[in-house]
Amino acid sequence: MLTSGWRCAVCGATTAIGDALTWRCPNATATDRRHAPQIVQPAVPVVSTGATNPFLAFRQYLAWDSFAEALGLDDGAREALVSELDAQVALVAGTGFVTTPFARADALSDELGFAPTGGVWVKNETAHVAGSQKARHLFGILLHLVTAERAGLVPWSDGERPSLAIASCGNAALAASTLAAAVQWPISVFVPADANPRVLERLHALGATVVECPRLPADPPGDPCVHRFREAVMEGAIPFSVQGTENAWCLDGGRTIGWEMRGRPFDRLFVQVGGGAFAACVSAGMGSLPRLHAVQTRACAPLERAWELAASVGGPAAVAQHWSDVMWPWEHVGHSAADGILDDETYDWLPVVDAMHRSHGGAVVASEDDVLMANEIGCRTTGIDASHTGTAGLAGLLAMRDHVAADERVAVIFSGVQR
Ligand SMILES: Cc1ncc(COP(=O)(O)O)c(C=O)c1O
Ligand SMILES: [Zn+2]
Repeated sequence: MLTSGWRCAVCGATTAIGDALTWRCPNATATDRRHAPQIVQPAVPVVSTGATNPFLAFRQYLAWDSFAEALGLDDGAREALVSELDAQVALVAGTGFVTTPFARADALSDELGFAPTGGVWVKNETAHVAGSQKARHLFGILLHLVTAERAGLVPWSDGERPSLAIASCGNAALAASTLAAAVQWPISVFVPADANPRVLERLHALGATVVECPRLPADPPGDPCVHRFREAVMEGAIPFSVQGTENAWCLDGGRTIGWEMRGRPFDRLFVQVGGGAFAACVSAGMGSLPRLHAVQTRACAPLERAWELAASVGGPAAVAQHWSDVMWPWEHVGHSAADGILDDETYDWLPVVDAMHRSHGGAVVASEDDVLMANEIGCRTTGIDASHTGTAGLAGLLAMRDHVAADERVAVIFSGVQR
């Protein structure tokens, strides 16, 4: 069994791998979520079985696999459960989990002035389940839930499943509602008043309960969707969230994308950062990491602020003990075409800061011009129909292009279909 459990990077609390529904650090409270459970696993060589489904190809490295083994499921039963749920997802999504394409984008590399020995490699997540990487994070939670339920380790009886809950009006909501529909699990999606009508239409079509969340007079600062989501969770809903602070198990399956990207030598990796789970997972999965550049926009850059403030509390290695000194919600979130990365707080910032520090990378703030240009050049030269959020990693490269040599090898991930 590879994974022994979870350990909080903030308070050191641990949970054993065989415990069920271990969504949060035991010391996190309803009003203080500043804890960061991390998977405890030795650094071992990661080898694919060759299966196209990454949850099968890399199954043994998933914390879920160790959880299921601890509950007594043998190898065949664990493999069968992944295949069973994957087939159900494919019926709803039109595709199951597959290894997504990752190749040098020649026209893009030429246009950005890279030499033949260097260039930009694009991982294309747009054709993935529900059009983005979000389903990877959530499938790990779903595997855990179904396994716990079948083992009788949940406080509800069959037919009385509590609702899943998520605060999102974008790719995460679509992925969550797709997976919920696949297993006929009820889900509530907490969305802002100005949510994209095309996304709302799809959420309704998937059978989700959509809850509009205007700011209420009594609301504390922060996103009202997150307030309503937390209230629902306090009343018994299951946090089906891509924020590690709400459900750390999202940090398990998200690593599949990094595992798919291993084994090629890169100099730099640019990842768009909203809540931070994505960059945390790509970094954890890639193992030997090129320089990680976490990309935010001028409209909202709490991670870059924390990265700059780290020196004032003893450096990046010391920030976990100084959460409130360096990471707090961005006061005035502006507008950006990359609206999927405007999370006012980078919830999963600790593993991202750690990865930037270890890899000698850093945080980049892209201008709105960079965001727009990255999407125009990126989509035109590759033919990939990604959203501005999904090409924002490339915007970070544009912002830093003068500091990147022509023979460097750079990786980015395009994700999130244009809607
Ligand atoms: C396409 C796309 N890329 C990246 C992100 C950022 O992921 P995270 O919020 O985990 O940092 C999002 C989040 O909504 C997204 O939709
Ligand atoms: Zn903790």
